[in-house]
Amino acid sequence: MQKYYIGTLNNISKVGLNRLTDNYELTDDLDKAEGIVVRSYKMHDMDFSDNLLAIGRAGAGVNNIPLDKCADRGIVVFNTPGANSNAVKELVIGGLIMAARNTYEAITWADSLEGDVAAQVEKGKKQFKGTEISGKTLGIIGLGAIGAKVANAAHALGMNVVGNSVVVSPLLTAPCKMYDSIPEMVEVCDYVSIHVPSLPATKGMINKELISHMKDGAVILNYARPDLIVEEDVLEAVKSGKISKYMTDLADENLINVPGVIATPHLGASTAEAEDNCAAMAVDELMDYFENGNIRNSVNFPAVTVDPKEGTVKACILYKGIEDISSAVKEAVGADNVCGLTDGKKRTEYGYAIALIGEGTDTSALEKIDGVLKVRVIG
Ligand SMILES: NC(=O)c1ccc[n+]([C@@H]2O[C@H](COP(=O)([O-])OP(=O)(O)OC[C@H]3O[C@@H](n4cnc5c(N)ncnc54)[C@H](O)[C@@H]3O)[C@@H](O)[C@H]2O)c1
Repeated sequence: MQKYYIGTLNNISKVGLNRLTDNYELTDDLDKAEGIVVRSYKMHDMDFSDNLLAIGRAGAGVNNIPLDKCADRGIVVFNTPGANSNAVKELVIGGLIMAARNTYEAITWADSLEGDVAAQVEKGKKQFKGTEISGKTLGIIGLGAIGAKVANAAHALGMNVVGNSVVVSPLLTAPCKMYDSIPEMVEVCDYVSIHVPSLPATKGMINKELISHMKDGAVILNYARPDLIVEEDVLEAVKSGKISKYMTDLADENLINVPGVIATPHLGASTAEAEDNCAAMAVDELMDYFENGNIRNSVNFPAVTVDPKEGTVKACILYKGIEDISSAVKEAVGADNVCGLTDGKKRTEYGYAIALIGEGTDTSALEKIDGVLKVRVIG
């Protein structure tokens, strides 16, 4: 079995790295590494060595990695969707309760007291009287790994949950009325929580227009990405009282010390458990790719998993812009030598196919196919 070198950027949890078997060795020399495990280190200006086959991002967002540059070099980038979803869910539920019970404002006030605190507390506490989340309606935009878990937990706490999502995660078990129209959905919501990725279609989703459809005094929660909201519109709505609170995990200079805005410093995935889960998943994905050619959860190549077959080797082919990879492979190695080919479902021009090819066949012609970025033969 070939030995693979793995480099790390950032501190990667030992729980993850300890999963590496004897076929792997950690290295500080990134030029030597076939795999890199990374968290948030910005890789855009890095030069990648020809040895590098794959990057495992321990986390969901991949803004720190140049995906197309990697794809063009035949470097597969994996992420770990869902591995930190419980951590984010718990922070969001904390945010819901903090908003409803004015906890942050109340603690800040209590911390400012001097003298007979107990007496002042009894006298002054009424200014922080809250509401209960039970019986209120939570609207969730994006019912993926995190949104679905937030929905389940909120339902368990007595909330009515409604949602809008392009795809609904099978993790959703709570009853959830789905709306095609987000403006129509927010009209019935006391709380609106957004859990979508940052995409051209989602940027600025929470804006003046959408806020105009919200109930007076509604609470907005954004524990996803900063650019999903138009910040000045949300701040204006908080100032006017239209929105009673903006709860976010994405603190920036405009959001701190603003009454009605409670911003945590990007703590969503910052739990020991989430860091362990993400690192473990990233390491498992890298090992499955190196040893079996399987791609699961890549953000720049399609998913393909193929079981080994006796008497064949796996030719793992990363390519760009080839219309019919099956015919191209058959032409290159001879149709009789191809025992099967699985081509991943492409979302972009980058494709990935695993061909089962008869043992002993000369596969060198595969690399010469116009559009093929990288070929690895396993088996
Ligand atoms: N605060 C943190 O530390 C932290 C940690 C992890 C993830 N996040 C962020 O949380 C967000 C959600 O993460 P996830 O793991 O649940 O992702 P996910 O991919 O599992 O789910 C995203 C969901 O959004 C839906 N969606 C996409 N575009 C949409 C649109 N235009 N309208 C409605 N729905 C749409 C998808 O169908 C999917 O169901 C991401 O932005 C991620 O970056 C934040």
